[in-house]
Amino acid sequence: MLEARPGDTVRIRLQNRLREATNLHFHGLHVPPTGTADNSFLMVPPGEVFGYEFKIPIDHPPGTFWYHPHVHQSAARQVSRGLAGAILIRGEIDAASAVAGSPEYIVLLQDLDLDSRGYPREPNVMERMVGRGGHLVTLSGAMNPAIAIAAGGWIRLRLVNASASRFYRLQVEEHAMAQIASDGGPLPSPRYLDELLLAPGERAEVMIEGARTPGTYRVLNLPYNRGGMGMMGAFRSAEVLASLVYAGYAERRIALPERLLPFDSLPQPSRRRSFVLDQGMGMGMGMGMMGGMNFSINGRTFNPNRVDTQVRLGDVEEWEFVNPSMMDHPMHVHTNPFQMIDAGGAAETAWKDVVLVRAGSRVRVRTKFSDYAGRTFYHCHILDHEDLGMMGILEIQG
Ligand code: C2O
Ligand code: CU
Ligand code: CU
Repeated sequence: MLEARPGDTVRIRLQNRLREATNLHFHGLHVPPTGTADNSFLMVPPGEVFGYEFKIPIDHPPGTFWYHPHVHQSAARQVSRGLAGAILIRGEIDAASAVAGSPEYIVLLQDLDLDSRGYPREPNVMERMVGRGGHLVTLSGAMNPAIAIAAGGWIRLRLVNASASRFYRLQVEEHAMAQIASDGGPLPSPRYLDELLLAPGERAEVMIEGARTPGTYRVLNLPYNRGGMGMMGAFRSAEVLASLVYAGYAERRIALPERLLPFDSLPQPSRRRSFVLDQGMGMGMGMGMMGGMNFSINGRTFNPNRVDTQVRLGDVEEWEFVNPSMMDHPMHVHTNPFQMIDAGGAAETAWKDVVLVRAGSRVRVRTKFSDYAGRTFYHCHILDHEDLGMMGILEIQG
């Protein structure tokens, strides 16, 4: 877990002891996509060492971010085997009433696919197309951990979906969740939820109050169907991820603040673009497997030597993601967060960097290309889809 404050200089020494190239992407941080900063073009060969160094801007929002390797065609494998960690940026929200002083749990959600000897298993072609998933779900490395909560007190969960493809539909038995932050930091005010859907790459911070009869309550992952041949979770029953265990009593009850961080809507865009997410046809048995393995954006699969989208530094644009396919695609953009304009009717006042584009739907987001010029990425965060080509290069021209 990395922790920093706005204005800090971050230095990370990455020593690659894998037998393959790797690197680090700082998912959600608003730092340069170039040089020694959040540069996912940079590869660290096996046996080598690289020093990342960048400054967290003084006005960077506080929140829960994360880091993981970003090697095209190896991202799903490296991340699904565990290479991921949380990044916390501290700020004003950490001093808010009830938030300050509450126990904080970092919940990095990962799923591992192990064979009978306990080694990671390689997925088959079909599993890669749908997006690999593991049977063993861990929360920051622990199976079914106990999360302690004082009766009458609060806890803060910092949730990160660090799984290659698995969606989490989280529910805490008999307890509401008060969401205080999304991908890009604090919400304008707490949002009270019975359940929370987290697609790969997404984060949320939720406060839970120990308001029930002291005891043990289950933290559940409810079934969710993300499409793709009807086999991913459609008929799975709820699984237990953790236990909320009452321990002790809070000295006094504290209320959550009604206002967290003012939200300024981005102005009208100077340009609109559309991105159609698709996968090749022919997924039937034995035929057209190569076509089926082709994941694309606007008909093109990823090419590291091609710029797909050019924008101007400082511009506001509206991007529409169109998903005519049978699978959900959580789309992610590096470097600059976005605001949701139209997510199936429900505009959401939150800064996001992953937006779920459900099968057969479209969403619009608005973003401003602030501060940093250079090349960066947008892609589906089902990492097998990214590895199979559903990624493009965005060039921000200074
Ligand atoms: Cu977390 Cu380009 O991704
Ligand atoms: Cu990212
Ligand atoms: Cu996808």
